[in-house]
Amino acid sequence: MRKPMMAGNWKMNKTFSEAQELAKAINGAVEPYNNVDRVICPSFVALPGVAWALSGGELLLGAQNVHWAESGAYTGEVSISMLKGMVTHVIIGHSERRQYFGETDEGVNKKARALLAAGMTPIICCGETLEQNQAGETSSFVSGQVKAALASMSGDDVVKCVLAYEPIWAIGTGLAATAQQAQDICGGVVRAAVAADFGSAVAEQVVVLYGGSTNEKNITEIMQQPDIDGALIGGAALKVEAYASMVQQTSELYK
Ligand code: 13P
Repeated sequence: MRKPMMAGNWKMNKTFSEAQELAKAINGAVEPYNNVDRVICPSFVALPGVAWALSGGELLLGAQNVHWAESGAYTGEVSISMLKGMVTHVIIGHSERRQYFGETDEGVNKKARALLAAGMTPIICCGETLEQNQAGETSSFVSGQVKAALASMSGDDVVKCVLAYEPIWAIGTGLAATAQQAQDICGGVVRAAVAADFGSAVAEQVVVLYGGSTNEKNITEIMQQPDIDGALIGGAALKVEAYASMVQQTSELYK
């Protein structure tokens, strides 16, 4: 059975000290629910402090981006070896990075393969715009993003990836996809794209998250869907009680 995951993307929020306080509070609130992978992804600057504050705990740490090169003249970038030992997961290809920072499918693929080679878990994001959704292009666009992100990988590599479907129109809008819509794309498009390129045995093992206005009120219905294994959470992941409740509800469903 796929282990569920509640991953918190803190985006560009919280100072160095605020991040440590929030991480400690979250850790205290979610520690007992160990049948759920609980990942928090603070900013690069906050990561060392949060890692120190959480040392010895079970909460997993992730970054929000990485560069694929080992080192070199890439001003402002952070390499995998700089993160290794501090984080286990890295979000790549988030729509905000694609939209504002020119991240491409090709770059996402390079990052994913470099992370796997380093023994780390890429959380690979995909998702369509409102215009694409309304034009009926969701399936072809999202399927293309998934296939491009996983290009040149082996099935053994693909099962180590986490895929996150985040429709852009649902991010930060308070307008989550319905549980059925999320299921249709997570299963019928994301997992189906993996099955088409790597076979159904691989597709059945890969963890698929939904993201976009998830919260403590809609998480149970979303997590009841057979092809949704977790959530990539933005705003609600910054609220201790909301995030802890989402972890707890997920834990209940997987008992
Ligand atoms: P919200 O949960 O705030 O909609 O953000 C989702 C997201 O972008 C997580 O990566």
